[in-house]
Amino acid sequence: MKEIRDMNILAIESSCDETAAAVVHNGREVCSNIISSQIELHKLYGGVVPEIASRKHIEKINQVIEEALREAQVTLDDIDAVAVTYGPGLVGALLVGVAEAKAIAYARHLPLIGVHHIEGHISANYIEHPDLEPPFLCLVVSGGHTHLVCVRDYGKYEILGRTRDDAAGEAYDKVARAIGLGYPGGPKIDRLAKEGDPDAISFPRAHIADAPFDFSFSGLKSAVLNYINGCQMKGETFRPADVAASFQKAVVDVLVEHSMRAAEEYGMGRFAIAGGVASNSALRESMKKACEERDLKFYHPSPIFCTDNAAMIGAAGYYEYLAGTRHGWDLNAVPNLKLGER
Ligand code: KG4
Ligand code: ZN
Repeated sequence: MKEIRDMNILAIESSCDETAAAVVHNGREVCSNIISSQIELHKLYGGVVPEIASRKHIEKINQVIEEALREAQVTLDDIDAVAVTYGPGLVGALLVGVAEAKAIAYARHLPLIGVHHIEGHISANYIEHPDLEPPFLCLVVSGGHTHLVCVRDYGKYEILGRTRDDAAGEAYDKVARAIGLGYPGGPKIDRLAKEGDPDAISFPRAHIADAPFDFSFSGLKSAVLNYINGCQMKGETFRPADVAASFQKAVVDVLVEHSMRAAEEYGMGRFAIAGGVASNSALRESMKKACEERDLKFYHPSPIFCTDNAAMIGAAGYYEYLAGTRHGWDLNAVPNLKLGER
């Protein structure tokens, strides 16, 4: 193990619809975490519009970085490295963060560390859990990803399962739109489901025969849409809260079942969740219970570190730095970057 150096990382995240900057000390202490969300803007269109996202990132990025430095009570003189998300994500959005990080690192002669967005989500768990170290299993569930990952060591990942079609968050957003809840749907379904009966409607749970840890949510999404259309065609009313609760139960059941099977098969004592959907109350509750029943230690970030933020990029960037990762001035946005690729 290399000697751990006392260092402040300035981290930048702009892969989708949040412009974010943070100052993170030694990977786990968040000195500031500034997030400028574009949700209000994209709500008008029912989802993220890539061109609008890029334009807004350009407008906000300097402001967000200045605020992150101010809140951490540091200047660029106190920064030891710059970490930035360079993929996966929307190419135009990623480019804004990457160009900014390169400019700061070049001007201040600082090391530049490109970070994988999912590695960031996983590393969000390090922030509030000083005892958490690899190896552990992590379920990453966000708007763009559903991955079951074995974290072998810092920066060393083995993907055990992934979605074959929609991501879990994407299914939440699409079902929410069908019920008329608007964008982003996840938190709205989470809230509405509390008033509904999760056993009211029997929605399908997909299992893939030759890949026990893979997921599929498009069939479930279609089943919900068919149910709603069927009710409308018959002139029957349906209870949105029951649809939300039953849909949510179908998602959570599959996520928990596959995760626990993987934990047993891989003999892991620690299990973490990450990504926007990891702030879902039903998922947290079920996962906590399932982990307790199996004597697994369960970890989850606070909601603010589940959805996109730059503190998680600072945490991941720190361990990448310790592992020797340094990127050059040719660092580019990679919209389909694979986990574990450099
Ligand atoms: O991690 P994230 O901010 O962005 C991506 O990397 O995709 O995740 C955003 C996703 C959206 O689909 C949103 O609907 C979902 O996370 N989400 C939730 C909740 N909060 C956010 N889904 C279910 N329940 C929630 N409470
Ligand atoms: Zn994300």
